[in-house]
Amino acid sequence: MPRADAAGVKKNKLGLKLPEVPKDASEQNHSENGIPDVCIERLQEEFKQLDCTDTQKNRMEEFFNSKRAVGELKQDDLVNICELGQGNGGVVWKVRHKPTDKIMARKLIYLEVKPALKNQIIRELKVLHQCNSPYIVGFYGAFAVEAQISICMEYMDGGSLDLILKKVMRIPENILGRITVAVLRGLSYLRERHRIMHRDIKPSNILVNHQGEIKLCDFGVSAQLIDSTALTFIGTRSYMSPERLEGTHYGVMSDIWSLGLSLVEMAVGRYPIPPPSTEDVVDLFKEDPHGNRPRPEGYGSYRGLAIFELMEWIVNEAPPTLPRSLFSAEFCDFIDRCLKKSTSERADLNSLLNHSFYKRYETESDNQDVAAWIRQVCRTESDGTNDNNHRRVGT
Ligand SMILES: Nc1ncnc2c1ncn2[C@@H]1O[C@H](COP(=O)(O)OP(=O)(O)OP(=O)(O)O)[C@@H](O)[C@H]1O
Ligand SMILES: [Mg+2]
Repeated sequence: MPRADAAGVKKNKLGLKLPEVPKDASEQNHSENGIPDVCIERLQEEFKQLDCTDTQKNRMEEFFNSKRAVGELKQDDLVNICELGQGNGGVVWKVRHKPTDKIMARKLIYLEVKPALKNQIIRELKVLHQCNSPYIVGFYGAFAVEAQISICMEYMDGGSLDLILKKVMRIPENILGRITVAVLRGLSYLRERHRIMHRDIKPSNILVNHQGEIKLCDFGVSAQLIDSTALTFIGTRSYMSPERLEGTHYGVMSDIWSLGLSLVEMAVGRYPIPPPSTEDVVDLFKEDPHGNRPRPEGYGSYRGLAIFELMEWIVNEAPPTLPRSLFSAEFCDFIDRCLKKSTSERADLNSLLNHSFYKRYETESDNQDVAAWIRQVCRTESDGTNDNNHRRVGT
């Protein structure tokens, strides 16, 4: 065997292959990320086949129009307005697209990888152009400049649910019902239309806006991006299912666990592992039955277990539950079915789409209740008052 081959075999014992990068990809201009108008028309046609309300169809139509107007994204056309937040993988900015005045959210991911790999990530991210659903954050395009990958998406002006939980004590059950409907519909869209799972369901990846829309972002569409950022986790919480933490095979059922855990956190107002005592939670609810008082500084901030202890807890201990006296029987049962440690016992997407908790909230035809709640949360933040008692913080 020639030496070069021998070395190659040694380095790649399993004979794994990277998906091929087409020859012209490395020569492509990185900012070449626009989507031709004919494709937008085809996507518009595809979207019409989805079961959506007229309002949802009109909003999507508006999005397609602004996407057409934006066309090819260029770094120089984007002006930073403010930082929206930072995660493990990067930072998200609110930006203005100068030629159209459109406001977008731009996620910047710093990646020191070979140009071919970067091109591959950009190419894989283009699948996002095809993900058009009222429950998925819209995508304008992605491009790379030097070591930075930019993902430009629809700006959600209510922010993410983790940010909302920093403003108020917790999220009421009826709103969690609407969140559940949106997340399950988003997950089933990804599965039915694109054969993918989300992989990262958690409050920071569920976004809301003042129109009362609830949408998912940051799902695992690029295998290379997942691999390249896999080692960047530095969090103190985990929404990963026990089977995923154990390193065994995991699939779409893992998203169901993450949804259940996120719902408990939002219902109770703090990350639920290790679980608070029922008495503590009941006392908190007595003090503030609606949970929309401004959150005192530092309340509920996680000072629990170190990450490995936390992972062990998730794998070995009983899963979190909701206090029966504070939530409806349907909601408690829904959570119990999502948070089964064994995947054979955990509810699948279809059975949750038929669960009475989902059914109770699926028929709401407009988003006015969610929109009103978001307005109230933002008012709570801006002047420290809320709808129920109009009190100033600290009085
Ligand atoms: N499209 C968007 N519109 C408005 N705000 C957004 C948007 N996308 C992200 N954000 C905000 O930016 C923050 C950072 O997002 P990012 O995805 O980088 O990190 P994360 O989801 O908090 O954590 P992780 O990196 O662990 O996934 C989010 O918490 C959210 O508040
Ligand atoms: Mg995110």
